[in-house]
Amino acid sequence: MFDSGFGGLTVARALIDLLPAEDLVYVGDTGRYPYGPRPLDEVREFALEIAGHLVANHDVKLIVVACNTASAAALTELQETMPIPVVGVIEPGVRSLVSATRSGHIGVIGTVGTIGSGAYQSAVERTGAAVTLSCAACPGFVEFVERGDTDSDQVHVLAERLLAPLCDAGIDTLLLGCTHYPFLARTITDVMGRDVVLVDSADETAFRIRELLAELGLERAGEGRFGHHVFESSGDVEIFRRLGRNMLGPELDDVRSVAWT
Ligand code: DGL
Repeated sequence: MFDSGFGGLTVARALIDLLPAEDLVYVGDTGRYPYGPRPLDEVREFALEIAGHLVANHDVKLIVVACNTASAAALTELQETMPIPVVGVIEPGVRSLVSATRSGHIGVIGTVGTIGSGAYQSAVERTGAAVTLSCAACPGFVEFVERGDTDSDQVHVLAERLLAPLCDAGIDTLLLGCTHYPFLARTITDVMGRDVVLVDSADETAFRIRELLAELGLERAGEGRFGHHVFESSGDVEIFRRLGRNMLGPELDDVRSVAWT
């Protein structure tokens, strides 16, 4: 599994809870975060490099792109080129979104890269659901999360500004289309109001992974077995351990450094 930094830990949490017997290698590319403002071609190169590393150096059986920006930029290419199954977070998130709405007016927030790519707009269209979609990019949210600041006045002020168009649009359900954003859920709810239901892709992605592993006969059986969890960071390992543990929990223990050539 990989993300630009801490965001994918929201997906890791759901996966560890649902499939506790599975081993997990998580790469947080904190040395090159944020991905959101970068050109999609560059993000695609990073994604291919990290996926190649997971296959070559960890012999993984399945890759989870636990990052919306990387899913938008590279999922198709990863699925075509990797020798193992690759799962993204956009389709699972859209499934949650479309099933949660009552009014049919839905919203998605994400990075500039994700929203600009049109990946959510296409994924919602592919469901065929009769819904109206409003999207907004939220530049700056990821940086707050990466600093471990999820509820300061500053992040609140930024959220009020960035979410104003969605408040005005009258949506009833909002998909957090960046894996970092669930860490800001309280602030986002404060701004959007409690009538707007927040959904994210973490649980639905974990269900999809369970389904796929079962279909392919790849699940790790083992009543009472607890998987081994390794975390790699391309940035400061100590910061990753300290902040990451606050975000994920005690499973974030074995943190190693990873460098790109
Ligand atoms: N967590 C990522 C996402 O889901 C990327 C955030 C970033 O690095 O800008 O889009």
